[in-house]
Amino acid sequence: MLNGKNILLAITGGIAAYKTPELARALKKAGADVTCVLSQNGAQFVSELALQSVSGNRVYGDLFSLTDEHEMGHISLARNADLIIVAPATANTLAKIAHGEATNMVTTLLLATTKPILLAPAMNWAMWENPATVENVKTLSVRGASMVGPVAGELACGEEGMGRMADIEDILEAAEMALELSGPLKGVLATVTSGPTHEPIDPVRYIANRSSGKQGHAIAGALAELGAEVTLISGPTNIAPPENITLVNVITANEMMAAVNNSGCADIFVGAAAVSDWRMADTKKQKIKKQSPGTVPELKLTENPDILKTVATIGISGGLSNSARPQLVIGFAAETENLIENARRKLAAKGCDWILANDVSNETDTFGGDDNQVHLVTRSGVEEWPRMNKRQLAKKLAEKIADTLLDNSRLANAHLTSTKDVS
Ligand code: PMT
Repeated sequence: MLNGKNILLAITGGIAAYKTPELARALKKAGADVTCVLSQNGAQFVSELALQSVSGNRVYGDLFSLTDEHEMGHISLARNADLIIVAPATANTLAKIAHGEATNMVTTLLLATTKPILLAPAMNWAMWENPATVENVKTLSVRGASMVGPVAGELACGEEGMGRMADIEDILEAAEMALELSGPLKGVLATVTSGPTHEPIDPVRYIANRSSGKQGHAIAGALAELGAEVTLISGPTNIAPPENITLVNVITANEMMAAVNNSGCADIFVGAAAVSDWRMADTKKQKIKKQSPGTVPELKLTENPDILKTVATIGISGGLSNSARPQLVIGFAAETENLIENARRKLAAKGCDWILANDVSNETDTFGGDDNQVHLVTRSGVEEWPRMNKRQLAKKLAEKIADTLLDNSRLANAHLTSTKDVS
């Protein structure tokens, strides 16, 4: 969850600040890119040099530093982060952010951010229990900030009580949870198909293709990383499934169709599987024997269900009265010639919203390889995406999906408001 994430670690003025180089190191070890912001009071307890050495990034602190603002302004710092952790969050800082103050670099970027915030309070127990702090914590929680700690124990002032900053492992766990709960696709249901299908000819032979599942699996993972609840329906592959998804393994196109319907309603459907268009009209129960030299068996094929078209035109649970079309139905077009023209045709024929057209000619290594190059074909035009790793492509697609759903809901809200105005 923390791997590849940009974490902004804001350190304010409490004794627990001395633990923050260790926290920065643990976040980095988990794969995060850590940038520290150190308040003037925080700098009394931990050195800028220690934080810079451990994080490997410049430490920011002075709101009015021309160099800091030139290199990375406070607004950019707030925008670039996937998560902001305030550790330790002092009673003073909690009060300031609860009241929207922007008196130093830390409080200013917290006011400017739209990203998830995790607070790790640390203070004397009496300050923690003071009704003012209790009220501030409540205000911040209601606004969506996550909290970790404080915990009970011996405090810096020599007293015992609730006020120690949470342990590093607990802050890490809370950071993962804050990221998981906060993605732009939180609450969104997605069904993704991936990999090839195998259509049996007889008990030992089958019709298949060279899809590895890399692209479809990466898309399922990228959607889950943005908070979607993902069902990944996969044909036979040799790759590990991504984390935080529900995996349904299938073999044939018919099984894939049934699994899609069983997955229930979805807001997003992505058909990345290379579904076999045909299967045997009559799968042989016994292994087909080799005949006399020069004689080859004739294989009669029949058409498989078109999963993408069914989902786009009838919906999931196709044919049943409760079938529902996902808001966004996305397919691929695997072509070896006339890429855009064929993709446009597929968009219309299948009734989906977007088609990712990829050239699968042998020299491109798209089937089975690590990279892909697609054109996003929609009813309003064609967008050429650069060649990139399949994981990067999946991330770009997931972000585009999130933006589109957000725009759709903004539009729906605007429509509701204008209808209200009229009535
Ligand atoms: O798995 P990888 O090795 O990572 O490779 C990725 C990929 C090349 C398989 C992937 O990027 C891709 O292009 N997937 C779709 C392959 C395909 O079957 O394309 P198509 O042009 O034949 O089908 C068009 C669309 O209809 C696809 O979304 C496909 O999932 C869907 N389809 C096709 C036939 C069918 N019976 N049912 C379907 O749902």
